[in-house]
Amino acid sequence: PEHVSDDLSSILFTKEQIAQKVHDLAQQIDRDYEGREVLLVGVLKGAVMVMADLMRELEGQYPMDWMAVSSYGSGTKSSGVVRILKDLDTDLHGKDVLIVEDIIDSGLTLSWLRTNLESRGPNSVEICTLLRKPEAMKTSIDVRYMGWDIPNEFVVGYGLDFAEQYRTLDCIATLAPHVYS
Ligand code: PRP
Ligand code: MN
Ligand code: MG
Repeated sequence: PEHVSDDLSSILFTKEQIAQKVHDLAQQIDRDYEGREVLLVGVLKGAVMVMADLMRELEGQYPMDWMAVSSYGSGTKSSGVVRILKDLDTDLHGKDVLIVEDIIDSGLTLSWLRTNLESRGPNSVEICTLLRKPEAMKTSIDVRYMGWDIPNEFVVGYGLDFAEQYRTLDCIATLAPHVYS
């Protein structure tokens, strides 16, 4: 854990910038979903930070549930193979589902997940992601709530990992190439 800063190239977003962005997203969500029966679906493990902070910024009461899906394993490249490691506990019939993610990289995870959840009879399925990498996307995804578009570099922190490390950073930073090459 010591000398984590040696592994980082540059800080993309500070703790304060992230907090402001999450606050803005929460305001939009509160406004759009007022009076509706919404379920927040967090995608483990990367979305834990954004989910926890977003929920505390929301004025309304929103139940949450979690799915664990993985398309990365321990590498830096998306395999395109999505596995359900933990499914929802909640019946989606008639619900307005809002998927909460940390990042859209290739888009393969969310594209698959949205289709999967839409097949369970919800009223709607929308997506909230803190980050998106437009240059890396292999499929187009309609994202309702978005934090920032970022360059096609490997980023860590605020839930985002490399081989399960760096999730605990309170900022979002690019990983130095020497760490993964
Ligand atoms: C990462 C990230 C997204 C997904 C995005 O999760 O948290 O869920 O990859 O990649 P994609 O757009 O190319 O599909 P990961 O599979 O690393 O699992 P984790 O959240 O447990 O780190
Ligand atoms: Mn993830
Ligand atoms: Mg990961």
